[in-house]
Amino acid sequence: MTKTTNKKLLEWVDEVSAMCKPDEIVWCDGSKDEYDRLSKLMVDSGTYIRLNDDIRPNSFICRSDPADVARVEDRTYICCESKEDAGPTNNWTAPAEIKETLRGLYDGCMQGRTMFVIPYSMGPIGSPIAKIGFEITDSPYVVCNMHIMARVGTKVVEVLGDSEDFVRGIHSIGSPLTGEKQPDQPWPCNAENKYITHYPETREIWSYGSGYGGNALLGKKCHALRIASVQARDEGWMAEHMLVLKLTSPDGDVKYVAAAFPSACGKTNLAMMNPTLKGWKVETIGDDIAWMKFGEDGRLYAINPEAGFFGVAPGTSDYSNPNAMISAAKNSIFTNVALTPEGDVWWEDMKEDEPEHLVDWLRRPWAPGCGRTAAHPNARFTAPASQCPVIADEWEDPAGVPISAILFGGRRATTQPLVIEAANWQHGTFLGASMASEKTAAAAGGLGQLRFDPMAMLPFCGYHMGDYFAHWIKMGEKGGDKMPKVFYVNWFRKNTNGKWLWPGFGENSRVLKYIFERCNGTAEAREGPIGLMPADGALDLSGLDIPAEDMAELMKVDTAEWKAVVDAIREHFAKFGDKLPAELNDELNALEARLQNA
Ligand code: OXD
Ligand code: MN
Repeated sequence: MTKTTNKKLLEWVDEVSAMCKPDEIVWCDGSKDEYDRLSKLMVDSGTYIRLNDDIRPNSFICRSDPADVARVEDRTYICCESKEDAGPTNNWTAPAEIKETLRGLYDGCMQGRTMFVIPYSMGPIGSPIAKIGFEITDSPYVVCNMHIMARVGTKVVEVLGDSEDFVRGIHSIGSPLTGEKQPDQPWPCNAENKYITHYPETREIWSYGSGYGGNALLGKKCHALRIASVQARDEGWMAEHMLVLKLTSPDGDVKYVAAAFPSACGKTNLAMMNPTLKGWKVETIGDDIAWMKFGEDGRLYAINPEAGFFGVAPGTSDYSNPNAMISAAKNSIFTNVALTPEGDVWWEDMKEDEPEHLVDWLRRPWAPGCGRTAAHPNARFTAPASQCPVIADEWEDPAGVPISAILFGGRRATTQPLVIEAANWQHGTFLGASMASEKTAAAAGGLGQLRFDPMAMLPFCGYHMGDYFAHWIKMGEKGGDKMPKVFYVNWFRKNTNGKWLWPGFGENSRVLKYIFERCNGTAEAREGPIGLMPADGALDLSGLDIPAEDMAELMKVDTAEWKAVVDAIREHFAKFGDKLPAELNDELNALEARLQNA
C-alpha cells in the first residue's frame, strides 16, 4: 500500500470502495513489475494475447467488445451546477441528479474485481505546469495504458503530499463478477449503460460502462482537456486539442508549431513526419494535447501533458508515418487490430501486401477480398513517447516551448484551400471557431458527415463554447503581438473524380516551410477574401509533379461556395446566443463583405 497521510485522498478512496465493493484495493506504484504482472494477468484471463517477442517485443493485442470501440459523445456529460455554463454543444445534467443515477450503477459494480488506485501526473512530475490526478478503476487494461500515457506511481503521491489539489476520477467497466464463480469476458464492459461525466467545479470525473480510450483513460480527454479547459479559463492559460512539433530549418533555426485537427485527421502523422524537403527537420513534442501558458517574455509556451501516443492504427505505415511504426515496435498495446499467423499485428494499409490469412479484430478468420476490414477503423496503438525516434530533446522541459504558429485544419474534400493565414489573432480565433471537418471513426456514429468542430474541441471543451471563444480573444488581448500566427490547412481536398489533390504526409513539410518563412517575414503572401494566401512561388513545389490545374484547384476559393459557408457559419454561431463574442460576428460580416467584392 502506498503510504500517504493525505486525508482527502484517503477519505475519497474509502468512499469509493464502500460504494463499488471491490474484492481488494491496489495502490498502483507505476513500476515495471506492476505492468508485467497485470499484463500477465490479462494474458491468463484471455483479455490479452502476447505478440511474438521476436517480431514485437513485450507487446500485446487486445480486442474489445464490439459495443465498446470509440468515444461515446452522446453519453458524455459536462455536469456543472448551471446548465448555461455547459453551453449548447455539451450534454448536461445537474451534478446531484446524475450522481444519484451513477451511485446506483456504481453500487457493488466492482464485486469480484480489484479496485486499482492510479496516481498520475499530466506533465513531468513536479513541474509547475503539471497537474495531478487519481484514477480509480477496475480495469487492468486501463492501468497498463495509463502507465504508458501518463506518469504514474508512488512518486506522484509523494509530490502531492497533503495537498488537496488533485482531480478525482472514478472509472468502472460496469461489469461485476457476482454469484457463482463465473469466467470473465475477454473485454468486460456494460454494453447498454455508459456514462462519461465531468464535474468541472469540483474537478471530478465519473465514468461508467466503457473500457475504451478516451472514455476510460481519464488522464487524457477527461482531465487534460475537459477539466483542464475550465482550469485554464479560470487561471488564464489554454488547454487545447493540439499536437506540438519542433521545426528546424536547414540553417538550424527552430520554430515550434501547434496544430488543432479533429480526432483521426492526422495529428500524429504531422507531429512526427519525415520532411521530403531537404535539410528541414520535424521533431515531436506531443501528438494530441497542448497546455499553453504565457512565459516571462510574454510568449505562449506549450507542454505536452501526456507521456505516450494513443494513435489510430489503420492507415499508419512506413510510408505515412515511419516514426509512429518505430514508436510502436515494442512495449506497446494494440487494441482492435488484426492478428497475423506469425503473432504480429496488422491493419488496413499497414503494408502494401495483404497477408493471406488473419484473425480479424472480432476474432474471426479473415482473408483478402472477404468484404470486411480486418482492423476496426478506430483501432489504436498505445506506445511510449520516449520510443519515438524523432522525439525532441526538450519534450519534457517543464518550461515548455515557445509557439510561433498555430494551425487549424480538418478533412474537407471541397471548399477549403491547402493553406490560408489569418490577418491577426482575432481573425485566427474566427478561423478556429468556424472550423468544420468530415466525421471520423474516433467517435461513434455519423461517419463522413460534415460538422463544425471549433478548434477541434467540440467533444472536449468543458464549458460553454461561447465563453471559450471569449477566452481565446482575451488571451490575444493579453499576448498582443507576441501571440502565434494562425493558419488554416487542408491536406484532404479532392478533385471531381474523388482523387486527392495533395500528396500529403512528408510533402506537408512544404506547407510547414512556408509557415516558418511567414513567421520569419521571408515569404510573400497575397490577400484573398478568406485570408492571406501564398503569393506565386512562395510555396516550395520544387521536385513535385503536380499539374498546374490541380494546384489551382487546391488553392481555389470559390466565391459562391464560400457565400454558402457564410450562411452555415451564421447558423453555427447562432447556437452560442449572446455568449458569442461580438468580435467573431464582426469577422463573419467582414468575410461576407469581402466575398461580395471578390
Ligand atoms: C483521440 C481522439 O483519441 O481525439 O485522441 O479521439
Ligand atoms: Mn485526440
